[in-house]
Amino acid sequence: MKQKVLITRKVFPEVVEALSRHFDVVTNADDRPWSPDEIAVRLEGCSAALSTVMCRFDASVLAASPGLKVISNIAVGYNNIDVAEATKRRIFVTNTPGVLDETTADLTWALMMAAARRIPEGDAFVRRGDWQVAFSMSAFLGADLHGATLGVIGMGRIGQAIARRALGFNMRVLYHNRTRLPEGDELRLKARHVERDELLSLSDFVVVMVPYSQATHHLIGATELAKMKPTAVFVNTARGGVVDDKALVDALREGKIAAAGIDVFEGEPRLHPGYLALPNAVLTPHIGSASRATRLAMCAMAQDNLMAALAGRVPPNLVNKELA
Ligand code: GLV
Repeated sequence: MKQKVLITRKVFPEVVEALSRHFDVVTNADDRPWSPDEIAVRLEGCSAALSTVMCRFDASVLAASPGLKVISNIAVGYNNIDVAEATKRRIFVTNTPGVLDETTADLTWALMMAAARRIPEGDAFVRRGDWQVAFSMSAFLGADLHGATLGVIGMGRIGQAIARRALGFNMRVLYHNRTRLPEGDELRLKARHVERDELLSLSDFVVVMVPYSQATHHLIGATELAKMKPTAVFVNTARGGVVDDKALVDALREGKIAAAGIDVFEGEPRLHPGYLALPNAVLTPHIGSASRATRLAMCAMAQDNLMAALAGRVPPNLVNKELA
């Protein structure tokens, strides 16, 4: 009898076809994010779940799914899964590191530029027809990226990809990371390691790129925002919860910083309602990895992880390595 696999959101048809050759596949035809309870019901009899970051695998879901062997997340992050509980239950958790670094760095830059140069405001202006009657020398003034200082908090693979792009804009790069990069990497990126407060006070652009955990919860809050320049542009393409959204909304509203580009929100898919009224916030719906090529690569990787686990092998991108 074929093992049963749950795919929690709509994925590319080739992935469903490939998995259907080996497994009895249950899909989410209308692509609605399921609540943990809905996931638990659908997981009945399943050996594996192919999942996205929008699907929560809480302890209660894992407790209700005794046959589950692997949760294969189509993402580098895995804070949607109670990994400690999965480990206790000997359920493999896997992710898709590496393949989305450049695409996520691209989106980070898109948000930096859109927020600095007020692209959405300009777009709305043109669509309203206002530009035909108004042209002012001081309208739509924004910040220059070239020659400015970029501060990257979290200098892993994605942080480094973001920093590398700054070379082309002749920017000064500061970074803060738990561990300093090897000197060769610092030289290659022309990046200087500084304490977090120094980065916050010196940077024209502040980007956060750390995984979400208890240790990074509200890493950027009112205190950190108050240390930034009033002209600073802040970008979060990492995870909701790393930033205190209420504090960021207040800082943007009160002009404590100039602008922000935000792709990830606390409590997604909900977002702090204060964002909606802010012209200086550029908002995107968690699309850091959303290019076709990258999403295909992530799906292929997640499929390999799942198949390895169900074939009794240790999956290549195992998160809870103590199960290897
Ligand atoms: C997306 O947010 C990911 O973690 O890959």
